[in-house]
Amino acid sequence: MAGPAGTAHPSALAEALRGLQVRLTEHFRGEERDGYGPAVLARAPHLDRKVRALLAEHGDLARALEAVIRKEEAARSADAGLRQALATWLGRMRRHESEENQLVEDAFNCEPCAGD
Ligand SMILES: [Fe+2]
Repeated sequence: MAGPAGTAHPSALAEALRGLQVRLTEHFRGEERDGYGPAVLARAPHLDRKVRALLAEHGDLARALEAVIRKEEAARSADAGLRQALATWLGRMRRHESEENQLVEDAFNCEPCAGD
């Protein structure tokens, strides 16, 4: 169903992705603060560039996950819009059929019919 802003309520996937985002942020923060970098560099200083490149990739990975979440939200919103459009059409179709049925009933239930 549609929410207040026309968006659907969070799906199980959206909630799982947001949960992943929280854990990923903590994971990256831990690696950046006191993770493998100092230990690796103490044993293998020549891997400095690789360590810096991998740590620098955290930001890009976080932004990419946010983009995935936003795509999921946009798809859900579009899905809600489609459901609303279909519900509106079904309502119109029901009213149309009801009016036709009433018209036929009126036409055949008067004896004789007064012209109006
Ligand atoms: Fe990492």
